[in-house]
Amino acid sequence: MRIVVGITGGIAAYKAVSLVRSLVEQGHEVKVIPTQNALRFVGSATLEAISKNTVDPDLYTDVADVKHVELGQSADLVIVAPATASFIARTASGIADDLLSNVVLATKAPILVAPAMHTEMWENAATMANIATLRARGIAVMEPADGRLTGSDSGKGRLPEPDEIVAAALALAAHGTDLAGLNILITAGGTQEPIDAVRFIGNRSSGKQGVAIAMAARARGANVQLIGANIEMPSSIDSVSVKTASELEAAVKVALTSADVVIMAAAVADYRVEAPSDLKLKKDHLGTTLDLHLVQNPDILADLVEGRGDSVTPYLVGFAAESDAERLDALALEKISRKGCDLLVANDISSSKVFGADTTAVTVVHAQDGVIARFEGQKSTVADELLTVIHDQLPERKNNS
Ligand code: C5P
Repeated sequence: MRIVVGITGGIAAYKAVSLVRSLVEQGHEVKVIPTQNALRFVGSATLEAISKNTVDPDLYTDVADVKHVELGQSADLVIVAPATASFIARTASGIADDLLSNVVLATKAPILVAPAMHTEMWENAATMANIATLRARGIAVMEPADGRLTGSDSGKGRLPEPDEIVAAALALAAHGTDLAGLNILITAGGTQEPIDAVRFIGNRSSGKQGVAIAMAARARGANVQLIGANIEMPSSIDSVSVKTASELEAAVKVALTSADVVIMAAAVADYRVEAPSDLKLKKDHLGTTLDLHLVQNPDILADLVEGRGDSVTPYLVGFAAESDAERLDALALEKISRKGCDLLVANDISSSKVFGADTTAVTVVHAQDGVIARFEGQKSTVADELLTVIHDQLPERKNNS
């Protein structure tokens, strides 16, 4: 793709270098357009070297090429990161007083804006109104992250991490905002069941697939709630952290009321220690063996199916990690009929390359139609493909209801 990356004048401009590098590494042709103020924070030599392209922010050079129109027309995607309050205000008013703002007005390509500013500026009524204007005009505006700001202060207003911006931008270019209006609840990660004050029973789930689904869904316009078990959460997504299966169950119950789709990507422990110790167990007291008495955790997904009764909402998607590659399809079909969910995404973990990896291979099983798809590749790509399958299933369900 031909991607224009606009950079405006904020301290987070230095992070745009990683964003550009990542897009170039993925094979995209990137044209960087910094504003004059952005060049106070990051130099054009750096941007030229990283983008492998010339950088000239001046509207009045090469005028004969009418470059603002040419750049706008030829772009497949425009990303502005970081976007200052001033850039957002000027874009909302249609002001075109430099090369970047001219290109933004001249393009018909999808535009993704990643704001970065202090919390007070983000929450200012003028900024909020300008953001609403951009969104109403079809410009995708990411939520800023909550975290450390320029000084010692922290709050909402931080630029989302470059990989989150890349994922959002590529999903926007591929699908537009086809999931707008949909409320999607996603669980990710692996639960940990305490044994004592320091030890737990856990599993190898890294949460990468669930987080990739959350980021892709958000980029495609869905309202996403992410419940993460023992993982680092993406900064720009509305999320809740949990540790144990029962905490995850409680968080799902709270978030469930508004969900149209629930995607249970988390690896939930089937058993927990019945009576974990508040103190650290000492081996001098325990002797040579340690017996742990485990009790079964509730099956959250199966309970969601039961609670739904005959209703078609929410649409329920389960995950399964299977180690018997030969019988993957049969195990997945057996599991979907046992769990009663609408879709099951089965991972072959026999090669032990899935946990923690950036790539995966999945088989998608449908409650009535059996195996309906197989996807392989980057977890972010698989996330997009899964969301497209879910999106395509929803109208069918509504028609059947
Ligand atoms: O039966 P199994 O644990 O393989 O099923 C996996 C699916 O069920 C996943 O979607 C997981 O999130 C969900 N699950 C659950 N509650 C449990 C165990 C698994 O919701 N106690």
